Amino acid sequence: MRNMRMSLAPRRAVAALAAVLLAGSVAACGNSDTGGGGDSGNDKIVLGFSQVGAESGWRTANTNSIKEAAAEAGFELKFDDAQQKQENQIKAIRNYIQQKVDVIAFSPVVESGWDTVLKEAKDAGIPVILTDRAVDSADKSLYKTFLGSDFVKEGRLSGEWLVEEKKAATGDVNIVELQGTTGSAPANDRKQGFAEAIAADPKLKVIASQSGDFTRAGGKQVMEQFLKAHPKIDVLFAHNDDMGLGALEAITAAGKVPGKDITIITIDAVKDGMQALADGKFNFIAECSPLLGPQLMELAKKVHAGEEVAPRIETEETTFTQEQAKEALPNRKY
Ligand code: AHR
Repeated sequence: MRNMRMSLAPRRAVAALAAVLLAGSVAACGNSDTGGGGDSGNDKIVLGFSQVGAESGWRTANTNSIKEAAAEAGFELKFDDAQQKQENQIKAIRNYIQQKVDVIAFSPVVESGWDTVLKEAKDAGIPVILTDRAVDSADKSLYKTFLGSDFVKEGRLSGEWLVEEKKAATGDVNIVELQGTTGSAPANDRKQGFAEAIAADPKLKVIASQSGDFTRAGGKQVMEQFLKAHPKIDVLFAHNDDMGLGALEAITAAGKVPGKDITIITIDAVKDGMQALADGKFNFIAECSPLLGPQLMELAKKVHAGEEVAPRIETEETTFTQEQAKEALPNRKY
């Protein structure tokens, strides 16, 4: 009897330790908020979402929208912040596959390099939804749909406004460009759309273009370099508000007046950006909506139920001048 008790105790301890280790290995992935698995036996749809990071005001608003919409729709959300690293996103997606979630959604930090992990999700029978940013995979069957903005259009609208704004200017108009994260869909597409639009007027010249990684710190640092290297800068085109806001500090420190000495165009229209526009420090913003949560939950319900969905769903967006920003600012939610 005594011997039996002694042999059972270590067995129970080993079993308990194994359970702890298994739970740990399933949950271990970046900054994850994880609950039970898709095979955890509850009736809720389990959505695994891999977010790019927390690089900008836009991203914070996007994360809030997804978390709020998931709670409202009664989903179980497993959320991971990849800290702007593709390897973290791949790890998170593999984790979601292992946990057998019902649907995977993610906003890919860069466009390339997703085929292998997307194939793993497909082989596991888990539908994938791309949100905000696209991938360049040739095999479109690797994901169900894309939900987000037309980034080329945002760049084009910015360029078209500039062509109109500078049509009476004489001599070269020198433009510097703060690009988003290298290799990301918004950086590639906004650059392309802007370049296509300003090609209409040969005096508009991009004299320098570099990545500020969509962050305020990056925008400030790169703008400081631009200002040192180029005595005559007429226009700044920043691929998002945050880089533009960082650049404001560099421009002011260099003794120039933002919005007057240098015309500033940005993309997003988050509250801080809209405030800068209303204050006359920015000159134009092309909107990019981060409020994708409710539409994402609708799509996740549909793909989980095996329903067909459109391959690409674009969000409706607008543009803002300084006057329009003053009007819109009091009701701006993010
Ligand atoms: O992918 C959307 C872009 O990512 C936003 O314009 C930018 O602010 C964010 O970091």
